[in-house]
Amino acid sequence: MRQINVSIPGRAYDIFIQPGLLNDTGAQMRALLPHIAKVLLVTDSNVAPLYAQRVEKSLTDQCFAVKTAVIAAGERSKNAGELLRLWNEAAAFGMNRTDAVVALGGGVVGDLAGFAAATFLRGVPYIQIPTTLLAQVDSSVGGKVAIDLPAGKNLAGAFWQPKLVLIDPDTLKTLPDDVFSDGMAEVIKYGCIRSEGFFRFLEACGDRKSIMEHIGHVLHTCCAIKAEIVEEDEWDTGMRMLLNFGHTLGHAYEAAYHYTTYTHGQAVAAGMVDACRIGERLGKTAEGTTEQVSQLCAAFGLPTHIDCSKEDYASAIGVDKKGTGDSIRLIVLSEIGASQAVQMEKSALLELV
Ligand code: NAD
Ligand code: GLY
Repeated sequence: MRQINVSIPGRAYDIFIQPGLLNDTGAQMRALLPHIAKVLLVTDSNVAPLYAQRVEKSLTDQCFAVKTAVIAAGERSKNAGELLRLWNEAAAFGMNRTDAVVALGGGVVGDLAGFAAATFLRGVPYIQIPTTLLAQVDSSVGGKVAIDLPAGKNLAGAFWQPKLVLIDPDTLKTLPDDVFSDGMAEVIKYGCIRSEGFFRFLEACGDRKSIMEHIGHVLHTCCAIKAEIVEEDEWDTGMRMLLNFGHTLGHAYEAAYHYTTYTHGQAVAAGMVDACRIGERLGKTAEGTTEQVSQLCAAFGLPTHIDCSKEDYASAIGVDKKGTGDSIRLIVLSEIGASQAVQMEKSALLELV
């Protein structure tokens, strides 16, 4: 079993990584939270038929009372209506503050269920059981929980750390290729911003099969990097912004195509390549970096360029949550494995895209 402790004072928790771990959900939770009686298990319509029964059995074997809430799969469920539904389910189930929410699914389930947990009764414990690559390396760790509003993604949310993250890499075997590739964008991001060695390892892997042969190492490396960053900057006021590498322009692509044509990972991949290109033009990024990032993204089936009008860039940069006043912080690489935030005028960034 691989284990990483996210050492946030007063809110520390473990990430466990182990094939087959789904079957141990109940035992892991019982050991950590002996007084919990009820569990609201939140999952989605794709994940439920694959894995919900195993998790339910594991929980009931440990004498937890379980109620399962299934949301429709997809980003559109990350909304206020579904949040209200989960609050009502929790209330009807008679949950109190010592009961818990379990999020079984991808980032949509994790963000929605986590936000329900952060707000029901002013906060109940929750456990993340991520089942997509993106959720296993990124969204299940760090406590950002949210729903989308008509005005934009993740606009209502909280910082609410889970009590435990249980990662079963076997769940990745049922992921469609495009969803797997999507997660690879975030995996590549960690190599780019923090570890040249890991970047070279990913280059050597080169495809999904090889990544899966080394999945324990991949998940452990990504989670360890994320844990380190979150420990340093839980509230996202400093170095946590490095995790937004590729996301500023990525958001522009997602928005420009109304969150339909390109997935988050595809948009982030193109955004990472753009950030490198801009960094090279500014003299902040070592020459040749763009080409290396571009080749690695392409190897995993991710786009390295997405067409976008200046108007769409402008509107995305205008509402970017990282923007302050008329300036914006763009995350660029100094070289593979090293990143920094560059503050620039939004108008200057628009000239460079
Ligand atoms: P997702 O949750 O929509 O999952 C993608 C698809 O895979 C869905 O159709 C889902 O039903 C299916 N699926 C999940 N697990 C499966 C499995 N094991 N086998 C087969 N199918 C499976 O999307 P995602 O990419 O996991 O997450 C995206 C969300 O995460 C976005 O809402 C994004 O805003 C959020 N996010 C949050 C953070 C954070 O820090 N909280 C970070 C990054 C992304
Ligand atoms: N996914 C970005 C963050 O957790 O800060």
